[in-house]
Order: sequence, then C-alpha cells, then structure tokens
Amino acid sequence: MVVGTRELTGWPTEVVGMDVEVPLAGGGFGRYINLDNAASTPPLRTVADAVSSFLPWYSSVHRGAGYKSLVSTAAFEQGRRDIGRFFGVGADQSVIFTKSTTEGLNRLARLFAARGATVIVSPMEHHANLLPWRKEGCTVQYLSCDGDGVLDMDDLKSQLQEALGEVVVALSGAYNVTGYCPPIHEIARLAHQYQAVVAVDGAQLAAHRQIRLAGTDGLDRIDYFVCSAHKIYAPFGIGVLIAPSDALAAATPDLVGGGVAELVTRTGEWWTGLPGREEAGSPNVVGVVALAAALNRLEQLGMDSIRQHEEELTLRLKEGLAACPGVRVLASGSGSAAWSQVGVVSFTTPEVPHEVVASRLGYEFGIGVRTGRFCAHPAVLQLLGVSDADSRAALARLAVGQPSALPDALRASLGLENCTEDVEALIAALRQITGEGPSPFAYVRNPETGDLQPEGWGAKWPSKVRCTGPDGDASSDGSTRC
Ligand SMILES: Cc1ncc(COP(=O)(O)O)c(C=O)c1O
Repeated sequence: MVVGTRELTGWPTEVVGMDVEVPLAGGGFGRYINLDNAASTPPLRTVADAVSSFLPWYSSVHRGAGYKSLVSTAAFEQGRRDIGRFFGVGADQSVIFTKSTTEGLNRLARLFAARGATVIVSPMEHHANLLPWRKEGCTVQYLSCDGDGVLDMDDLKSQLQEALGEVVVALSGAYNVTGYCPPIHEIARLAHQYQAVVAVDGAQLAAHRQIRLAGTDGLDRIDYFVCSAHKIYAPFGIGVLIAPSDALAAATPDLVGGGVAELVTRTGEWWTGLPGREEAGSPNVVGVVALAAALNRLEQLGMDSIRQHEEELTLRLKEGLAACPGVRVLASGSGSAAWSQVGVVSFTTPEVPHEVVASRLGYEFGIGVRTGRFCAHPAVLQLLGVSDADSRAALARLAVGQPSALPDALRASLGLENCTEDVEALIAALRQITGEGPSPFAYVRNPETGDLQPEGWGAKWPSKVRCTGPDGDASSDGSTRC
C-alpha cells in the first residue's frame, strides 16, 4: 500500500481555535488535533465574525415593529434563502428550522407514523434515524448490506416492489461509523418508481459534499432532508428540516405555541402558512445567521475542493491505519465494490482497550478521537460480527442490572481543517500505544464522569487559553489570549 507523500494542508486558518494548545500528561502543551469532526466540527472564523457583527442588531424575529426587530427578521429570512440555495431545494419544498437532525427526524417520524407508513432503513443508521421511526410506531424494515455496510440495491428494489401502503426510504447521506455515502439520487430515482419517498439524514454529509436536493430531473429529487449546524462549523444550536411544502401543510403543526396560528379564539384556531406553522416559539435567529455564514463560506471555498482534500486525507488515514500493527480498520473496503466515503474511519485495537487508547491519545498526545458505538449500536455490532443472539442476550443482561458487555470501536473523523500532519500524528501515536506497552502514567476513573484520566487530572472550565501561531503568543502560565 502506498501512502501518499504530497502534503495536504487543508484550511486550518478557517476555523477558530486551531492554535489552541492543550496540556499534555508528559508535561508542557501541544497543539490540539481534532479528529472528531463527525461528532461536532469547530466553528469557522466567518461564523464567529458573522455572529459578533449580528449581535448588536439582535432583537425579536417576526414579532416586533422596531428597527432592530426588522433587521433581525431580515437576517433570519435571508439565512433561510441562503440555506435553501446551498442545498439546492426544489420550488415545492420548505426550509424549516429545528434544533438538530434528531429533532427533524423525530418530526418526520410523527408525520409518517400518523399515515401508517413503512420505513426502509439500513442497519448502519445513527439512532436518530432509527429510534424515532420505531418509537412512533412506523413499520421498520432493514436493508441488506455487505461487510462494509454498503447497501444492496437489489434488496432495496425487491423491498420497494413488495411493500404495501406509504413507504419512506430513510437513509443517511453519509454513515457516521463507516463514512459510506450511499448513492442517494440513484436510490431516490428507484424509490420514486415505486411511489415511495426518500428522507436523507444529512448530518454527516452536509459539510463534506455538494448537495442538490432537487436532483437533475426531479425524478431523483431528495424529498426530505435534515442536518445539524454544529456538524457544519456553526455550533449555535440549530438544525434544518427540508420537506415538501404540501406534506407539511396537510399535517397539523407538530409543536404548537406562538407563531403557528393566524388566529386563535377561546375555542378554535386557524394555522398560519409555512414555514411559520412548523416553527413554534421564538426562533433561533443567531443560529440561522451562523449557519448561513458557514454555508456561504463553504461555497466560497468550493465544495469540490473540500471534497477532494478530505478524500485524499481519508485515503491517507485508511492506509496509515491499515499499515499500523495492532489496528484493525472496520469497513476497510474488503466488501463488494469501491464506494464513496466522507472522512470517517472506525477501527479497533484488539490488544488494547479502546477506552485506554482514546484517553491516552487525548492526554498524552493532544489528539481528540471518539470511542464507543457512536450512537449507531446496530451498525457497530454488525461490523464487529456480533450476532443478533448475543445482542439480545446483552439487552437481557441490562434488564437485570448487569453490564451489556458488548464490544465497541474507535473512530477518527476529518474536517476541512485537518492536514497530513494530523493524520501522521494519530498513526504515530497509535503505533506507540499499541506497540510499546502500557502508559507511563497511572490512569484512574473520574468519579463524576466515569472517564479514564491520568491521576490528578481533569479538564476544567473556564480553562485558560494558551496558543501559538500568528494570533497568539505562547506563554507558560497559560494566560495568553488568542
Ligand atoms: C448520521 C447521523 N445522524 C444523526 C445524528 C444526530 O445529530 P444531532 O445530534 O445533531 O441531532 C448524527 C450525530 O452524530 C449522525 O452522525
């Protein structure tokens, strides 16, 4: 396997906090290397700037007659237009603001459960695209996929042929355990041939790929789409639900309160039109300003350039991990065909507990990764080869107060700010952790969080900021501002 030699630099100066150093167990400080972008991305500088320029103008949205209210409303609605343009929404779709992907999917689950729909998902889904459908009582059918979690399109076709009544194909645009991006427009074209609709969980896709929901000819359109701004470099508590306007207009508003009704009397109400009827309560205008600023910046940087950078870096990461003794990559590409992937790679270290690896990476090397089952338990268990019988036995153990004792994994995930050095730092650290025996530091469990940490350690807030680079002057007392 050839690991490329060209330096991949990314856009580190685009994000806030890249030069912040974190304390290391061995003494001193090191640059924080964020390889946990699949959980949350760091904020873009443009986002921080847009928010601070907007805050002096912040006021009530849609409700006030004062000048600042008018400015806030204009910013909010301009944000909606920018976001719609970025995602290439169709003329017949509405952009609704939610708190998150999770909230958007719960909304969709209630919408479709009320219509008795069948939902076809992959076993690789994040719980956000699984539990709401189950909880609301939709009939959930799982697609077959290969050892890498790649969908079996023939199985999709036969399930679509056989399903009765209203059918939703609800898939991630990119999977948070494997990074696999299913061909969502091809799937939509197929689903539409059988009068099914397609809902895409765009949480892992939106920041990494150009998205045009309207598709090429309308037949391959994505009907429903959800995403979260904190995974798109804009962590201000907002998410987006894009849906056909007629489907939402035909339903009773989900959450009710201020802003959803044209008129309310003592005994009745007349709902207002979209998007207001789906956005009860005071909206998160700062979140919208932040997300719009992030998307506008991503557009300027170029989604194709971002994709190319992240794909090259992902290849480096996979090759580096595969060549690392003591590391086993999940969904390494040993399945059927080549598949498209965002920068998410999960792996195991059979000789060293994952929790130990993750804690050592954090405390000794300043590298942030994730360990666990990434809120996608069926996916991780399937990729690790855990049988359904063993999973059921684990549920039964939990029911009697015993630990589930099921395996988990580690995950590294990339964003536009990452560079070759970050990937190499991870690989070098993993070689040390898996190859050179136990840590020189004694690790204990934090009694409050349950996390492993070197004795006498723990992250605190407020934390003094220490940073290097052009904007910051490193100082050993950690009091320098970035
Ligand atoms: C694929 C996928 N879907 C949904 C979610 C849930 O996103 P949120 O927590 O922002 O609602 C995540 C979060 O990691 C995800 O990776």
